[in-house]
Amino acid sequence: MAPDISGAPATLVTQLVAPPEAAPVKRFALPAQLATIDLGKGKMVEAWTYNGISPGPELRVQQGDFVEVKLMNKDIIAGVTIHWHGVAVPNAMDGVAGVTQDAVQPGETFTYRFVAKDAGTYWYHSHQSSSMQVLRGLYGVLVVEPTSAPVHDDHDYTVDLHEWGTDPECFQNCAHVRTINGTAQNVQLAAQPGESVRLRVVNSGQDRHVLALIGAPVTVVALDGHDLNAPTPLDVTRLPIAAAQRYDLRFRMPETGVVQVLDADLEPKANDPRPAVFIGTGGSIPAQYPANAPLFDFTHYGAPDADALTANATFDAAYILELGNALGLYDGQLTMRFTINGQVNPYVPPIIVQPDQLVRIQINNPTDDLHPMHLHGHSFTVLTKNGQPLTGSPVILDTIAVEPGESYAIAFRADNPGLWMDHCHVLRHAAKGMSIMLVYPNIETPFDIGSASGNHPE
Ligand code: C2O
Ligand code: CU
Repeated sequence: MAPDISGAPATLVTQLVAPPEAAPVKRFALPAQLATIDLGKGKMVEAWTYNGISPGPELRVQQGDFVEVKLMNKDIIAGVTIHWHGVAVPNAMDGVAGVTQDAVQPGETFTYRFVAKDAGTYWYHSHQSSSMQVLRGLYGVLVVEPTSAPVHDDHDYTVDLHEWGTDPECFQNCAHVRTINGTAQNVQLAAQPGESVRLRVVNSGQDRHVLALIGAPVTVVALDGHDLNAPTPLDVTRLPIAAAQRYDLRFRMPETGVVQVLDADLEPKANDPRPAVFIGTGGSIPAQYPANAPLFDFTHYGAPDADALTANATFDAAYILELGNALGLYDGQLTMRFTINGQVNPYVPPIIVQPDQLVRIQINNPTDDLHPMHLHGHSFTVLTKNGQPLTGSPVILDTIAVEPGESYAIAFRADNPGLWMDHCHVLRHAAKGMSIMLVYPNIETPFDIGSASGNHPE
């Protein structure tokens, strides 16, 4: 993709694999298959699943493990893949149909192999027709447990937020049922007074959720799997979580024995049935969603770290991504196109980096939509929001929620050669153009995108 001036033969993405390691191997099998899922409350959906359930099996490994996951496609006609969202896998394992592999067709298999280098809360999902397949159930949570944890948690639970179309044919822009851990019913988690509880919250859907934890002060210990420095307990605070983002929360069970996690939109609606999470033994106490509580703001939470990358660093390369939208032709249809620098994928000129460069990217969102921008293969440090440097903990993310009118500067080290996507995780926006490639020089893909190939990453 990027021009090579050295004359050296190109590296194929398929050669960018994990070297053999002495690390313990954790093996999983994930069959992709059709299944009818009971969301509770009498709602059944025709789902596309890993292992017959959605969310798919929670994969838990230890930091440093060599992870081996065999994907077998039983009967998903459109083909499937697995993308390891937030994990810096070798490029060949990134699971992007048409870029790093062919979509796995019914009867075929593909084995993913990578070292789980960094502890944290991640998730996995199909990256074939992802705007449909992820919403339709092809996703699950991946937890990489740290080898040594400074704080012991008595309980470590996953809370997955998702939305399901009620019309089996409609998985975009349609009336939907909100679920937590796959059910539209309330979720009950056990804990005793005095115990420490960690909640790993994952937004696997498309909507922004705004959570509030009632009953105990809560500490935000990690964002997108990356620990925050010296985070402090918050009184009732609303926690906005955009598509694909993760929050790790920790609290101590109060003597009352009840903590609740309530979910709403930024502007809570009066008639908006959604499940809640109840933690404890005390049953549920009626709690009102705290619509006026302050919104969590990571730009001044926790404490700075002297070693962190800041806006004052010297960058080797700098790019600007100007997000936009406009009516126009896309795939021959008049529709809302979501653009980066005025273009739609695949016509957006790529971000080209040299190995080991320190790269700064400024993302401006003058549109009236929220765009959670996700970079594959790398995590990035947030340098500034609306031009202001962060004053608290360093914040390292893989998905940044760029609200209307906002701009962020982020930076990362180009330390993972390959061809990587950078796209909006409101997947219907990505499917209408909001996607750009990050490319290292002299790397080529043998795969194609489009009808002839059967590969449709968005
Ligand atoms: Cu969570 Cu390109 O993906
Ligand atoms: Cu978007």
